[in-house]
Amino acid sequence: MNGQAFTVHAPGRVNLIGDHTDYAGGLALPCAIDLGISISGTHEQGRVELSSDALADTVTFDLDPAVNIALIEPQWGRYVAAVAVEVNAAQGFTASATSTLPTGAGLSSSAALEIAVALSFGFSGSPMELALLGQRAELRAVGVPCGLLDQLSIVFGRAENAMVIDFADNAIEYVAFPNDLDIVILHSGQERQLADSEYAERRASCELAVKQIGPLAQASLTDVATLEGDLQRRARHVATECERVRNAATALRNNDPITVGDLMTQSHASLRDDFNVSTSVLDELVERLNTLSGVYGARLTGAGFGGCVVALCERGAINEPAALTGRGWIVRPSDGARQRAI
Ligand code: GLA
Repeated sequence: MNGQAFTVHAPGRVNLIGDHTDYAGGLALPCAIDLGISISGTHEQGRVELSSDALADTVTFDLDPAVNIALIEPQWGRYVAAVAVEVNAAQGFTASATSTLPTGAGLSSSAALEIAVALSFGFSGSPMELALLGQRAELRAVGVPCGLLDQLSIVFGRAENAMVIDFADNAIEYVAFPNDLDIVILHSGQERQLADSEYAERRASCELAVKQIGPLAQASLTDVATLEGDLQRRARHVATECERVRNAATALRNNDPITVGDLMTQSHASLRDDFNVSTSVLDELVERLNTLSGVYGARLTGAGFGGCVVALCERGAINEPAALTGRGWIVRPSDGARQRAI
């Protein structure tokens, strides 16, 4: 309704373990976090005006299903316009966004923006439709053929729970996150670079591997050994990562943080050596974290190529994460995205 005020919120997510598995039909163990993007404003017929405290310049455009998204400036407006097309929006809004989520850090700021914008348009479909819409908007906006990890975590997050997602059928199982553990995130200071083209290349390799040996989540190391060169290493990462996710979920349920932490550190080594998406800065951070008392394990989180590392810690082990690299956070598993008419 024209003039109707609204406020929406979409959290970011941190992936505890299981990266570069979603688009290969594998498994991951993420949670939504208490850093995110909120948008407040009023509905308005036919146009969008959105400003942000985290991103430069105001996005303004008239709603038009035939809009040329590549021409929208500032660039972050392309996410907004892509969502408008996906929602088939007739009603727009004048609004402002506030964000506590760092951009380009592997904590899903673009997916959070897409989901928050979809809710701002008054999206009223099911949560699964909302997640799928966000994924299509990402492809439409910037051409990144992402999986569903970010969108499912953001939409289906639950306070004090991590979630095991099986991307074979997008089934979600919640796992209570122990009260006596902290999730610590440290920013490496490296904004993600080259991620888009390399991301698509990794995804294509995984798809090729699936064609040759079937679903990687079920592949044995003997199956993987029939592949050659880089393809073998990419597939080995996905196959072993899925097994690590299963084991980490069991260990979390059994309140065994030592095993979860070890699996996280093994995951980092696999992303570094087999999937080649780490950087020396991320590697050093993981090593450094693992020398600190009360840290069970650490790994890069998200697509890699820069961004953040995540560590599983005893509660209070690292009191001031920002003191370690300049930017850091202790986060708690949080509820998923929500909208509220006011
Ligand atoms: C990005 C993508 C996700 C996922 C991760 C890696 O965050 O958007 O779909 O592939 O990288 O796990």
